[in-house]
Amino acid sequence: MTGTIPLILDVDTGIDDSLALLYAAASPEAEIVAVTCVGGNVDAHQVERNTRSVLELAGRTDIEVALGRDRPIVRPIETTPETHGPQGLGHAELPPPSRPLSDRNGVDVIIDAARRRPGEITLVTCGPLTNLAIALLREPELPHLLKGWVLMGGAYRHPGNTAPTTEWNIHCDPEAAKIAFAAWGESATANGHPRAVALGLDVTEQAKIVPDDVVALARAAGSTPDDSLALARGEDPMQATRSVASNPIVRYIADALRFYMEFHARYDGFYGAFIHDPLAVAAALDPSLIRTRTIAVDIELGGTLTTGETVADWRGVWGQPPNVDVAVEADAPEFMRRFVERVGRLAAARST
Ligand code: BDR
Ligand code: CA
Repeated sequence: MTGTIPLILDVDTGIDDSLALLYAAASPEAEIVAVTCVGGNVDAHQVERNTRSVLELAGRTDIEVALGRDRPIVRPIETTPETHGPQGLGHAELPPPSRPLSDRNGVDVIIDAARRRPGEITLVTCGPLTNLAIALLREPELPHLLKGWVLMGGAYRHPGNTAPTTEWNIHCDPEAAKIAFAAWGESATANGHPRAVALGLDVTEQAKIVPDDVVALARAAGSTPDDSLALARGEDPMQATRSVASNPIVRYIADALRFYMEFHARYDGFYGAFIHDPLAVAAALDPSLIRTRTIAVDIELGGTLTTGETVADWRGVWGQPPNVDVAVEADAPEFMRRFVERVGRLAAARST
């Protein structure tokens, strides 16, 4: 598949990362140059296995998958099996990948691709910013070599999901986030900063998937049964069964999402799930899905309660050049429509 928008996806797959991979694979305008892996939702080695298995499910064995750094820059690794399941894919179990992992390091993959195609590639980070930070330490020109950087990360005018003011991807490696946000600030000129777009929880929590969306996706894929039963039973985990949908992608999504929906029912009060990372990929492909405000953002490192907070200078009191376009609004209904339609179409094409 050759799209016109070259992307590198840096992921910590993870249920919503896996849906972001499926969305990218389902988007004809996306050219997925490579996928790089970082520890976060699960251990980095599990991340790369999940990533290869999900891409294989999507029929995309042509894409290079590379493992980057397997732990944060200075902190010990933290993972979140209660959110994403012990292996990171909820209740789903995918066959082990048959395509090998790249023998290159993920950080090299990012730097080499950006140098080879200056000004062309958009890096979308869906996990902690460890790989990007190391890439920046080794290639400080990266903000100019990339076409842009789109991240799912931070909580701007919104509570955190890991600590009261802290979002998970920044929480896991705040030192890396500090390096990355500062690099875009240092690269700013009188004419602005290289493109960096942040989608925080205030917009990604609008991207809510509910069982009806999965049923619609299953129907778009021509899958039978349409999984309404399997997902509804998810409200009572003791009654739940694995999806018996005829379509492998639908089966995967139903089983992975049932876990995520059970988690959100426990912690967020609704039976459904926020699909943060796919919204970031969708916005990288079509910026009209979000509205942004350009401001200076820095990362708290020395807080006693707030380490990892994305501190956003909405009033410009620092007098610093802005470094990030922070998403303040998203067209979530249009995104959800595209998600169901695109991933449903991909599933239909992979129905055998
Ligand atoms: C982010 O944290 C992870 O658990 C998700 O994959 C997403 O990237 C949301 O805070
Ligand atoms: Ca993620």
